[in-house]
Amino acid sequence: MKKKIVAMLLTAAMATSMAVPAFAAEEAPIDLTGIDVENTTIGIAIYQFADNFMTLYREELVDYLVSLGFKESNIMVQDGKNDQAEQTNQINNFITAGVDVMILNLVQSSSAPQVTDLCNEAGIPVVYINRQPDEAESDRWVAEGIKATYVGADARQSGTFQGEIVLETANKGDINGDGKISYIMVQGDPENVDAQYRTEFSVKALTDAGMEVEELLLQRGDWDQAKGQQIVQDALTQFGDQIEVVFCNNDAMGLGAMQSILAAGRVVNEDIYLLGVDALTDALDNIIAGNYTGTVFNDHISQAHEAANEAIKFLKGEEVAPINMVDYAKVTTDNAAEVLEMLK
Ligand code: GAL
Repeated sequence: MKKKIVAMLLTAAMATSMAVPAFAAEEAPIDLTGIDVENTTIGIAIYQFADNFMTLYREELVDYLVSLGFKESNIMVQDGKNDQAEQTNQINNFITAGVDVMILNLVQSSSAPQVTDLCNEAGIPVVYINRQPDEAESDRWVAEGIKATYVGADARQSGTFQGEIVLETANKGDINGDGKISYIMVQGDPENVDAQYRTEFSVKALTDAGMEVEELLLQRGDWDQAKGQQIVQDALTQFGDQIEVVFCNNDAMGLGAMQSILAAGRVVNEDIYLLGVDALTDALDNIIAGNYTGTVFNDHISQAHEAANEAIKFLKGEEVAPINMVDYAKVTTDNAAEVLEMLK
């Protein structure tokens, strides 16, 4: 179990002198009074185990719950295999097993109303994670007093940070000096707000700063490294030197993109910029090595702890806010080594 990280974002003004997130190592222990920790059963459904970021998140979540005293044998973790029908079956099995609380990373966030109703009818509170149900749904939890909540991070912030990292480079992303930033966008699963917002807000940060932009290509890579590699390989063949910036909605796709960029003989931070999100350790190593421009730390540690803490509040019968957000943090050559050290 990792210590909770509170990433304090430094303003652009401070960035030149000390562009490091400040990490507060200690978190106040959650009060478990009134909970039969030994016998509490928890159902966790993950949209897909074959997802690097959600693997880190899942491991942290289980480790944290165990560190609090919950029994590993009472924590059931299911792989939805990216199939909503399969995941709905798993949730129904949790209901049959009579779990006390569920923590759910839906395959399709649009299934939230149906899943919420299933759990609510069974009297089981739900903490949704990572894939945010739409606002109408979270408004309904409040209006109808349903025990459901969401823990995540505001993906608009991660997109904005990607754009800001480009703006912080010497030529603000306009490598060839033609007055516009020409980019390609490798998108995650577009059903997901994380993919939608990162795509929109990375570019918005550029245009808000008065830069002209040109989108050469936008293609879905479903958060997948192999797809990222193929998309960028094809894009480099098609657009060559025209590409100045490669935005990837996550690091898995960014690492695939990096393989294609290096194979094409392009030099990151000299003739092309590459941006991801998540702060996977591979991406951090490559930022330090100069093969990757920057990423945005998607704080799976704070999100995992927060998800468990919200589940505990439900178990204690406490009031729970419908939406609980954790901050992202920018990572560049300035602070990659420090973030890497902290994640070890
Ligand atoms: C995002 C994360 C991606 C992927 C996705 C799954 O927040 O950045 O790497 O894990 O969640 O929904």
